[in-house]
Amino acid sequence: MVRNIFSSLLCGVIIALALTNANAQTSDTASVVIQNDDPLIYYNGRWDSTPETWWVGSGFKLQVDNLSSLTLNLGPYTSDPVALGVSVNYGNFTTVNATQGANVIPLGSIASGTTSVIRINSEGWEDNHMNLESIELNAGAQVLPYEPSKLAFQFIGDSLSAGQYVEEGVDQAWPFLTSEYFKAEHNIQAQPGIALSDILSYGNVHGMSYQFFQTEDTQYYYDAMHNYTTPWNFNRDYPRATHVVVMIGANDSGNNVTSSAFYQVYIDFLARIRLIYPTQPMFIILPWGWPSPDGPPSPYYVGIYQQVVNYRQAFGDKEIYLVNATGWVDYSDVFPANLHPTVEGHQKIAGYFESWLEDWGLVAESEWATPV
Ligand SMILES: *[C@@H]1O[C@H](CO)[C@@H](O)[C@H](O)[C@H]1NC(C)=O
Ligand SMILES: *[C@@H]1O[C@H](CO)[C@@H](O)[C@H](O)[C@H]1NC(C)=O
Ligand SMILES: *[C@@H]1O[C@H](CO)[C@@H](O)[C@H](O)[C@H]1NC(C)=O
Ligand SMILES: *[C@@H]1O[C@H](CO)[C@@H](O)[C@H](O)[C@H]1NC(C)=O
Ligand SMILES: *[C@@H]1O[C@H](CO)[C@@H](O)[C@H](O)[C@H]1NC(C)=O
Ligand SMILES: *[C@@H]1O[C@H](CO)[C@@H](O)[C@H](O)[C@H]1NC(C)=O
Ligand SMILES: *[C@@H]1O[C@H](CO)[C@@H](O)[C@H](O)[C@H]1NC(C)=O
Repeated sequence: MVRNIFSSLLCGVIIALALTNANAQTSDTASVVIQNDDPLIYYNGRWDSTPETWWVGSGFKLQVDNLSSLTLNLGPYTSDPVALGVSVNYGNFTTVNATQGANVIPLGSIASGTTSVIRINSEGWEDNHMNLESIELNAGAQVLPYEPSKLAFQFIGDSLSAGQYVEEGVDQAWPFLTSEYFKAEHNIQAQPGIALSDILSYGNVHGMSYQFFQTEDTQYYYDAMHNYTTPWNFNRDYPRATHVVVMIGANDSGNNVTSSAFYQVYIDFLARIRLIYPTQPMFIILPWGWPSPDGPPSPYYVGIYQQVVNYRQAFGDKEIYLVNATGWVDYSDVFPANLHPTVEGHQKIAGYFESWLEDWGLVAESEWATPV
């Protein structure tokens, strides 16, 4: 008994000493920990309330003064592993495999006493959950607000937009490359195998005409820890997209959806999209088709993409544009095994699309809104 009282007293003294010590040293040795609800974390893409990432490319951006180390503390909903793309000061993205627990993120060489911008996203289309608990930075680091670009793209697509089959996933895919070129923010709702029609397609339990409006991508169905889907609150898209790009149809075609049914689902979809983006320019891409070793690529839904755009224009929509990607991709730009673009193929497509947008009148920002 006496011994117990003594040891609790002793304990108290030690704790008190420890606390005093910690207070005295906070400014120079204690690391800086920011919790996942810190408003200085600039989130992009779609995160659920856990918070956990869904869809390709979802992640966050941070501006930090005097940064020298960064550790991500990830929770139990994290994929094992989740492939994260990491970019320091707008440099190229490199992949880091992260898992539940503490993950030290390599930052390369950052000059001391400067401001850094760190961008981290989940690059894969499956096993892509980053469950962020907190971010631990070096002592003396100071997080500053990240100012988003004035330009923000919303891309909607299938495997051809999601970066399926390239090593760094969406971070090497043409929508991502196009956004980087224009120094724009972006959200990419793209999923391999998905149709626009709300049908079961290559493992997707819903089509994009349903899933686009949801927080989760269709992989939720295969996730025993989160086997449900919830509506997305578009007010969380900040900034709201300034330009909307849609390229879809390969998997409707693969499932024998008729041209007239595809046309109908497309115009219904665009009508709903217009409620979210009432005045933004919308670009409907006429896909490049399936490349072949002995002839031009074979197109699908010939004439339909033009009819969809014509319909909206007849309806008075002045901000809808057909982007004809016929001829952008040939057999040398794809993996013969699956006819999806290679890394170089994606770069070529991005180059064509960037030129198309510049001819249309879009001008790349000269600097990122948050400079380094
Ligand atoms: C970044 O990636 C591009 C495209 O792959 C490449 O041309 C460039 O050399 C890379 N830059 C650096 C600094 O590695
Ligand atoms: C990440 O892990 C995967 C296996 O899940 C492996 O194939 C890949 O090479 C790893 N990448 C890196 C950059 O460590
Ligand atoms: C910058 O961080 C280092 C530790 O990495 C710290 O010693 C130094 O005091 C910090 N400088 C400022 C100006 O906060
Ligand atoms: C549809 O999705 C599957 C699975 O991603 C893919 O293999 C296929 O090439 C896609 N397109 C068609 C037309 O089947
Ligand atoms: C998800 O739920 C559906 C029923 O709604 C079930 O058929 C499926 O097997 C479940 N998947 C997992 C991974 O638990
Ligand atoms: C689509 O139609 C073709 C030709 O009739 C057939 O071979 C194929 O199995 C059909 N695909 C689906 C998913 O029904
Ligand atoms: C798209 O471009 C191809 C090749 O230049 C052309 O043959 C086709 O008519 C164009 N389609 C539309 C709808 O403009």
